[in-house]
Amino acid sequence: MSRTTIGLFIASPERAATWLAALRKFLPECVVDTADRFERADEVEFAVVWGEADLGKFRQLRAVLSLGAGVDHLLRNATISPGIPIVRMVEAGLADGMREYVLLNVLRHHRDMQTLAGNQARCRWAPFSVPPAKDRTVGIMGLGALGADAGQTLVQFGFRVVGWSRRPKTLSGMRVFIEGDRQAFLQQTEILVCLLPLTAETSDILDKTLFASLPKGAAVINAARGEHVVDADLLSALETGHLSGATLDAFRTEPLPPDHPFWRHPKITVTPHCASLTHPEGGARRIARCIEQMRAGETPVGLVDRRAGY
Ligand code: NDP
Ligand code: OXD
Repeated sequence: MSRTTIGLFIASPERAATWLAALRKFLPECVVDTADRFERADEVEFAVVWGEADLGKFRQLRAVLSLGAGVDHLLRNATISPGIPIVRMVEAGLADGMREYVLLNVLRHHRDMQTLAGNQARCRWAPFSVPPAKDRTVGIMGLGALGADAGQTLVQFGFRVVGWSRRPKTLSGMRVFIEGDRQAFLQQTEILVCLLPLTAETSDILDKTLFASLPKGAAVINAARGEHVVDADLLSALETGHLSGATLDAFRTEPLPPDHPFWRHPKITVTPHCASLTHPEGGARRIARCIEQMRAGETPVGLVDRRAGY
């Protein structure tokens, strides 16, 4: 019986080398290589992808496995025919990293580190108090693998946490609102965390209407995708003082161009799309399990619902 073939599509040679080693460790019985190393176009059965990939010529392709949790780039990829299953990354290391990123930045906004840093720059000694965490409401948009986990961490830290998702769910210590109750969710959210997938419904969701629904002085943390944010609306809400600050990890154009106003804005913290990265060890183990499930005719964990768009 011929061996299962797995093609890796990832632009950075360093990251490709790390992933090849990890995948080969967990898939010792398979042929695993970077896609360009396969001699015939019909050889790749499973494509493991991060970023752009031309998959049109791989006629034996059985599935596309994402190295990231977000699959918007794959759903946009016209070279993947609609019948090919796409599987997103669900991996403990991703949740660990995102939990830290969200906690760090919620605490930064909660304790108004921006004002403290500005005061220090001017040698200004100006103590102020902040409300206790129990009186601060953090709202999380998107309660999936990452949002639910981050929400539970904030609950443990004593914050008042509300969440918003498509379907109702029960999460300990959190009040969950569903799509139609968006207004009630936003009106009480003082620190908003966006962990939504990018879909037709969630594109441009962080716009002037949404910002206006948040209480004055609210802060926004976007750790999902740049296309959720209407950049001009965010800048204007910061300018008027309706929003007190924003922390952004993902952008419409990445790397963020040097002349983009976000870089130098005093109320914006920019991080270079590194809130959380898939850990090669855990990610490769997960990919090996998915391939095993698909070869056995089972539904793999993380199978994308193409109709929902995530
Ligand atoms: P999941 O697919 O597990 O969760 C998505 C959540 O969003 C679900 O709770 C879902 O609701 C909710 N949702 C989807 N559409 C809507 C909608 N229209 N209205 C309200 N809620 C909606 O995703 P993950 O938690 O794994 O990841 C979230 C995103 O985070 C990824 O898609 C990716 O873009 C981003 N990400 C960013 C990283 C970074 O480093 N910056 C790292 C990893 C991920 P329901 O539960 O009801 O289905
Ligand atoms: C992801 C990401 O989707 O890193 O995993 O953005």
